[in-house]
Formats: sequence, C-alpha cells, structure tokens
Amino acid sequence: METQKMLYLSKKDVERVDLPMEMIIQALDEAFKEKGLGKVEMPPKPGIHTMPDAFIHAMPAAVPSFGAAGCKWVSGFPENYKKDLPYINGLLILNDPETGIPLSVMDCIWITAMRTGAATAVAAKYLANMDSNTIGVLGCGVQGRTNLEALKIIMPELSEVKAYDISQDAANAYAEEMRAKTGLDIKIVNTPKEAVENSDVIVTAGPILKEPNPAIEFDWLKPGVFASPVDFDSYFKKSAFEGCEKFVTDDREQCLYYKSLGYFQHISEIYADLGEIAAGSKPGRENRDERIICANLGLAIDDMVTAIKIYRKAVDNNIGTWLEL
Ligand SMILES: NC(=O)c1ccc[n+]([C@@H]2O[C@H](COP(=O)([O-])OP(=O)(O)OC[C@H]3O[C@@H](n4cnc5c(N)ncnc54)[C@H](O)[C@@H]3O)[C@@H](O)[C@H]2O)c1
Repeated sequence: METQKMLYLSKKDVERVDLPMEMIIQALDEAFKEKGLGKVEMPPKPGIHTMPDAFIHAMPAAVPSFGAAGCKWVSGFPENYKKDLPYINGLLILNDPETGIPLSVMDCIWITAMRTGAATAVAAKYLANMDSNTIGVLGCGVQGRTNLEALKIIMPELSEVKAYDISQDAANAYAEEMRAKTGLDIKIVNTPKEAVENSDVIVTAGPILKEPNPAIEFDWLKPGVFASPVDFDSYFKKSAFEGCEKFVTDDREQCLYYKSLGYFQHISEIYADLGEIAAGSKPGRENRDERIICANLGLAIDDMVTAIKIYRKAVDNNIGTWLEL
C-alpha cells in the first residue's frame, strides 16, 4: 500500500495562504444556507476545562457540498495575555470525506479569527440595516479587528468606529492599525456607554466569563441596532436581551447547551437559527427599527469551509510541509 502524506500548515503558512475575507464571508453564507437546509453534519461541541473561564473544545463537522470534513481542537484561555500568548490557540484536522484519511493538519488561530468576523458579517447581511454607518467595538483585540474588517466589506457606508477597551494601550494600537487598514474614522472612547449609544452596529469582544458583570442596558441601544456579542452574554444585561425584538444564534442546540452550563441565562426566546434565515425559511430583519442581537457561538462548519479553501490554495501555491502519515 502506498504511504499516505498529509499537508502540515503552520500558523505562518496559513497566514501566507492569505485567503481573502470576501471569500470567507461568501463561504460561510453558503455553509449557513446548507445548514438551514439540513445538509451539514455538526454535533454540539464537547469540551474540557482545565482553568476557570478557559475551554478546550472539539469541533467536528462535515459540509458535503464543499467536500469538507474534519475537526478543530481549539482552546480559549483568558489569562494567556499575562504570558504574552494568544487567547485562542489550536489545531485543525481536515479529512478526505471519501476515505477518512487525514489530508491536512493546520494551525487554527488565523482561521478562528477570520471566520468569526465573517460569521458576524453574514449575520449582518440578514439582520442589520445595510446603510449602517456607526459601529461600537468593545474589546479591541483579535476579534475586534477581524469583525470590523468583515463588517466593512458587507456595509460599505460604515464610516465611524467608537472603540473601547479596558486597556488604553490595546485601544491605541487598535485605532492606529485599523485606521491604516480600513481608512475608517476610529475614535477611542472611555466608557462602554459611549461606544454603544447611537451606534448602528455593536460588536463586543472581551473575555467570555461564566459570571459576567454586564454593562449594556436596553435603553443604550438605538432603534434598528444590530449587535454581535462575540463574547456571548458577557456584555449585555438582562434588560438588553429581553428588550430586543429578535435574538438569533448560529446554532439553537449549541446555544441551549451553553445555557444549561450557566451561560446565556437572560436571553429571550431564540427567534431563529442563522441557517434558517440564510436558507430563507424565516425572515431576517423585517423593519428598520428592530433591535436584533445575533450571538454566533462559533461553529465547526465555519472552520471546515474555510479550512478546505486554505488547503486547496496551499496545495496550488506549494505552501506547507508534506509529512508521512
Ligand atoms: N463566538 C466565537 O465564535 C468566538 C471565536 C473566537 C473568539 N471568541 C471570543 O472572543 C473574545 C475575544 O477574543 P480575542 O481573540 O479577540 O481576544 P484578545 O485577547 O485578542 O482580545 C480581547 C480584548 O478585550 C479586552 N478586554 C478585556 N476585558 C474587557 C472588558 N471588560 N471590556 C472591554 N475590553 C476588554 C482586552 O484588553 C483585549 O484587548 C473572547 O471572549 C473569545 O473567547 C469567540
């Protein structure tokens, strides 16, 4: 029998492949449609927890229309910044859907950063006012960056960013980098309230905490707002969840599972799963004034459809190291 080989893609290799954000948004939009039509396989993610507020999750999924199957093994450790390490780390394995043989092992930091921003953009496509021009970003780290990059693509009229972070240095670095990257007017604000009030779009991307101390009140939210709490329910108060006209999530089952673990205690009824909206079985935004929160928990389908495109582009461009299995 012939010796099988798989392609190893380091963090630098994945970054060199440089899949454009536009392609990732498009891939995720298609993946959500497939999910809404019941054409993907994705069991809820199991996890282990070795430190308070930390997780290591297994995220398997198959998306047949993309020829994508595999599993991401990803960790999130909120205290890592003290050791100058990223919050999110991990590896992703892609398998050949016809033989099960591993095709590739790749670092998943870049993929997680980009696909989460792209998932916010897909949600915004269906749930935000497309002529939105002001965004509040709370948490100016990796996700604060990729969410803004993706939203700028889907909302061309976006012009003003109000950036808040508990670290002044993080906010300054964000403003400088994202001003240069996006050309947007980025103002640093000193309180969460200033970032939220009068914003058309809100992204919260601080740490996910099991016992959060949320700040955002319902009456801070402008009619018509679209909010993406990338950090789950760490920032939004009960009044905000209850007052919004629609609460959407990327996966109903996963959201209810998190609720059973103690997260999302104050969400109102789940209006829809993003896949149902993308596939057209439920309407998204129905008028300009609806306040809508879409909590994307991060799905393995997001990772697999991004990873297969990275793998194919890496093969075409001779990026990575072939290893014997
Ligand atoms: N939903 C998903 O699919 C998904 C995917 C990846 C990451 N995440 C979550 O996104 C969050 C951000 O991840 P990241 O990789 O950008 O981390 P990061 O460490 O790069 O950035 C976090 C930023 O938040 C700031 N911060 C901390 N506490 C804050 C507070 N109370 N208010 C405002 N800012 C605060 C930090 O100073 C830092 O700049 C994490 O909670 C992570 O678990 C979610």
